[in-house]
Amino acid sequence: MDQWLAALPKTELHVHIEGTLEPELMFTLARRNGVSLPWVDVEGVRAAYRFHNLQSFLDLYYAGASVLQTEADFFQLAMAYFRRAVADGVKHCEVFFDPQTHIDRGIDIGTVIRGLARAAEAIRAESGLSVYYILCFLRHLSAESAMQTLLDALPYRRHFVGVGLDSSEVGNPPERFETVFEQARLEGLQRVAHAGEEGPPEYIWQALDLLRVARIDHGVRAEEDPQLMHRLQQEQIPLTVCPLSNLKLKGVDDLRQHNLKRLLDAGLCVTVNSDDPAYFDGYVLANYRAVAAALGLSRENLYNIARNGFVASFLPEVEKARWL
Ligand code: ADE
Ligand code: ZN
Repeated sequence: MDQWLAALPKTELHVHIEGTLEPELMFTLARRNGVSLPWVDVEGVRAAYRFHNLQSFLDLYYAGASVLQTEADFFQLAMAYFRRAVADGVKHCEVFFDPQTHIDRGIDIGTVIRGLARAAEAIRAESGLSVYYILCFLRHLSAESAMQTLLDALPYRRHFVGVGLDSSEVGNPPERFETVFEQARLEGLQRVAHAGEEGPPEYIWQALDLLRVARIDHGVRAEEDPQLMHRLQQEQIPLTVCPLSNLKLKGVDDLRQHNLKRLLDAGLCVTVNSDDPAYFDGYVLANYRAVAAALGLSRENLYNIARNGFVASFLPEVEKARWL
């Protein structure tokens, strides 16, 4: 089963590039860039990775991202993630980046995007992995800041396929971002949003109806609303579920309680992803293995999850067909 799972062609549709920053690289970049960190060493950082909810993680994640300063840093970060993804059997990934986390520290958006874009090209040449980027707006910031970020990114439009919405969910409903998502749609960009991770089903409805998203990131709280479940099933709107993330951020106390199998059994298009693998102790294959063991998933279940990843991706139909 283990070897079969490793070899199974997979996608990764929910991973934040800043969330792939391993403590070792964090310290290397901190030294290189003269940035001081609130931890003395790698063990100190790892010891701090005990989260009790999303916000307790985000505070640390934004602190860690402060070491990223140059185009070479973003390139190195992305290459390290891509090589791990390839080793996990990932054939195509759609990767979030959070420009506001960097712009607000005085880093030029071009520095971020050029470094990431160069890495996508390099990994394609090295291994054949295909990479799409999705620009995420931080929902704890204003809608005006999101719009400015979109405008700042438009000169680099060819380097990303869509926009997303992440950061602190509760109290920051999707409806605040309707205008910027409409602008993105008019630019021909795909749309996704984190919803129903910690927030209520109502936020999932808003993401669908107001932001007109093609996928819901997380979405696990959809289960509380039968009408919403019906819609997700009927329209086959994919959920990018991140089991180890849900465990580490205390969405569930034990993976055996995770609703992934129930969502799958209800006929939803469920995918498995890693979210912030350097912080949550597991890249995509570890997430597959963890749910397979905890929920007793069959090969057929796992095959269907992997297949859903290709179906749910933004690849052109001819590219999807290579894997289906
Ligand atoms: N940014 C990085 N990881 C996130 C998550 N799981 N939820 C919301 N925002 C995030
Ligand atoms: Zn996420």
